[in-house]
Amino acid sequence: MSTYGYREIRTPVFESTELFVRGIGSETEIVGKEMYSFTDQGGRSLTLKPELTAPVIRAYLQNNLGREAPLSRLYYLDALFRQERPQKGRLRQFHQFGVEAIGSPHPEQDVEVIAIAHDLCQLFAPQGLTVRLNSVGSEDVRPAYLQRLRDALEPHAARLSELDRRRLQTNPLRLFDSKDPDTQALLDQHAPHIGDYLSGEDQEHFAAVQAGLMALNIPFEHDPNLVRGLDYYTRTTFEITASGLGAQDALVGGGRYDGLVAQLGGRDTPAVGFAAGIERLLLAAGDALAQQVPSPSADVYLVVLADEARLTALTCAKELRRAGATVILETLRRSMKAQLREANRAGARVAIIFGEAELAQGTALVKNMATGAQEAVALGKLVEHLTTIMHPEAEDS
Ligand code: HAM
Repeated sequence: MSTYGYREIRTPVFESTELFVRGIGSETEIVGKEMYSFTDQGGRSLTLKPELTAPVIRAYLQNNLGREAPLSRLYYLDALFRQERPQKGRLRQFHQFGVEAIGSPHPEQDVEVIAIAHDLCQLFAPQGLTVRLNSVGSEDVRPAYLQRLRDALEPHAARLSELDRRRLQTNPLRLFDSKDPDTQALLDQHAPHIGDYLSGEDQEHFAAVQAGLMALNIPFEHDPNLVRGLDYYTRTTFEITASGLGAQDALVGGGRYDGLVAQLGGRDTPAVGFAAGIERLLLAAGDALAQQVPSPSADVYLVVLADEARLTALTCAKELRRAGATVILETLRRSMKAQLREANRAGARVAIIFGEAELAQGTALVKNMATGAQEAVALGKLVEHLTTIMHPEAEDS
């Protein structure tokens, strides 16, 4: 993230329920069905956060970040909670990495955010990614589209479930999130495309986002039905999916939300962001990731054999760590062979063996794990000796 100039933001595990109802929308699946809400002893309704955009904007406003700088580029890595039926790639507690860029209305900001998401996905799944992109237009053009959508579906309302009939009245855009195959079939047949209702400026913005992605060689597909399941989106919406993940194949979801800051009590402030599901990124990476994970690596492994050496080993570990070394100290009291095997597994460059014979002479054995060479070193000189082995360049200069 540092190469993009974003800084970390952390928010509390729970927020007021009201924040999510206002931010995400009362007719959404998340607010309607998936929130873990509870009443505290003061009678306040609180909710374990199901997403982070609304909490980040709440924190942005409460801490006046907008006054500090005209543009806040923030990122987060956090645990979230949604009451969904668990399945592969869908958990009730999961983790998101995400970014929110608050302050710029311009398309290059959308492109930057999509590029970060794409970079991240490529790190985990170099093959089989699809970027799906759409524009849902600015808030000004939304009422006209919603009216057309309502008009188109009203004659077929009898075929809709009770929930979807209610959505048709209160928030017809949410019909696109419906899991009911009848609703989806009706939408396919009769729903107008939101893209046909964009203003000239919306169209220009969308064209510029596409041009930016092409300049960066990020392939994408225009998906005219991608409205996304949260109410706050305006203009750009996007998702990145991975092949081979089954039903839960969206690694990333995001988009622009130019009205949210004002809706939560701030000044009109445009913003755009995305969130990626960490568990899904790991699923998409599969075995490839396991091969990349470096084995634990220690500079020094302290092999302790003599009972009398335990305190000496503890203080030696402390001093070596102060000198900057990564030190693992044996605490299982295993045999010398088992301890040296562990030192090897930990990737230690040096093992220090605290044996009885050496201790009697005020020394410990320093063993080079690569060559097997070992030498006795006085206890008082251990740290100095180790520092020269670890950083020979410091000696030379
Ligand atoms: P979202 O599409 O609800 O968007 O979630 C983003 C990503 O979180 C999904 O693509 C998926 O990878 C992961 N995810 C969601 N639910 C689960 C689950 N139950 N188990 C595992 N992973 C899950 C948002 O949350 C928006 N706040 C994104 C955003 C940021 N838009 C603008 N800024």
